[in-house]
Amino acid sequence: MCGFGLSGSVWTCDGVPLSVIAAAVGTPAYVYSAATIRDRIGAFSAGFASYPHAIHYGLKANSNLAVVRVVRAAGALVDANSGGEIDVALRAGYAPGDIILTGVGKTPAEIDQAVALGVKAINAESAGELDRIAAVARARQTVARVALRVNPDVVADSHPHISTGLSTHKFGVPIREARAIARQACARAELAFVGLHVHVGSQMLGLEPLRQAANAVVGLARELRDDHVTMEHVDLGGGLGIAYDGEEVPSADQYAAALIEIVRPSGLTLVVEPGRAIVGAAGVLLTSVVDVKPQPGGKKWFVVLDAGMSELMRPALYGAYHRIVCVEPRAADPVVCDVVGPICESSDVFGVDRLLPLPTVGAVVAVLDAGAYGSAMASNYNRHPLPAEVMVDAGAWRVVRRRQTIDDQLACEE
Ligand code: LLP
Repeated sequence: MCGFGLSGSVWTCDGVPLSVIAAAVGTPAYVYSAATIRDRIGAFSAGFASYPHAIHYGLKANSNLAVVRVVRAAGALVDANSGGEIDVALRAGYAPGDIILTGVGKTPAEIDQAVALGVKAINAESAGELDRIAAVARARQTVARVALRVNPDVVADSHPHISTGLSTHKFGVPIREARAIARQACARAELAFVGLHVHVGSQMLGLEPLRQAANAVVGLARELRDDHVTMEHVDLGGGLGIAYDGEEVPSADQYAAALIEIVRPSGLTLVVEPGRAIVGAAGVLLTSVVDVKPQPGGKKWFVVLDAGMSELMRPALYGAYHRIVCVEPRAADPVVCDVVGPICESSDVFGVDRLLPLPTVGAVVAVLDAGAYGSAMASNYNRHPLPAEVMVDAGAWRVVRRRQTIDDQLACEE
């Protein structure tokens, strides 16, 4: 078993005690397990092995260069959501043909970058965007590879902020209109129509929304074939959830089997864009206790950390649950704690009513499952420096992003 867990009484990452890393690099810091990333990509590859497929890691979950290099070495391709993510992918060693560009609002510069590079697919979000891609391709005297993102009006059964497949959501073109739009795209000399794309939500714990989305897209591909519109792939997006709180989550095998069953009759290559399911459990946020104080009534405590919503936004933004553990044992009876950050607003809470042996000031705790959408969504709010990031690989660890300094922050200012 790789990853994070108790080794005797101390929390470790692939054998390295987390307290050792915290003592050396300070806190807050994200720690990643390379072995876990490889293991997860291996699980997806094995799950899809029986059918032509491509796994495009969703860079938005974590695009630290060292993480992306591990992803690349493990054999996954990438899905970028911006020009910046394309740049990171290229610097990590990916070729343009390994990159899919998604994004509900691509800028002219991003479209130009993607067309000039010749990425594997630009997932177009509207008829207007197809026009703009075609215009750039014409000007550059090239042919742009495009796919069409469809909105299938599917309930993702996830948090409303990360559900993306309802007709009221901003993503893609309504599935009823997609057939006509795809036919028009296919008829244009500047465009190579390579696929259909759908992504209905994130942190989904059931397969049903994914099945519905896959059925919708495969049905559309069939209609388009009748119209003599051929394509290479169907891209079913990301979205498979992880067990933040011990929930039942479909395995990569179950996920792959469900999608393959639906796509197989089409013969089209199956593309997926998992992010969280690859890196979520592969990272933790290490943070130190900076204050401990009783709450009025005397029954509960506040445990104040040196990391907050600026380092891990998910609890404040989605009410998300993350396990919180003391990295070193503490022989004290558990008490009820609200574990909070140092930021100047009351939404800055990591965990309410957590039973913990009351930590002392200076103790290090780990917020688990912070590998996805942790560092990727971090900010300088309250002038917090972006934390250090550490990669543990084969029993050794190294800093893969140094902690930001105030000079780094001010370098871009007048
Ligand atoms: N493909 C597309 C087009 C996406 O929009 C996303 C995520 C993915 C793939 C990867 O999805 P995943 O496999 O990670 O679920 N910040 C939120 C999650 C936002 C997801 C946005 N799109 C969170 O912390 O829960």
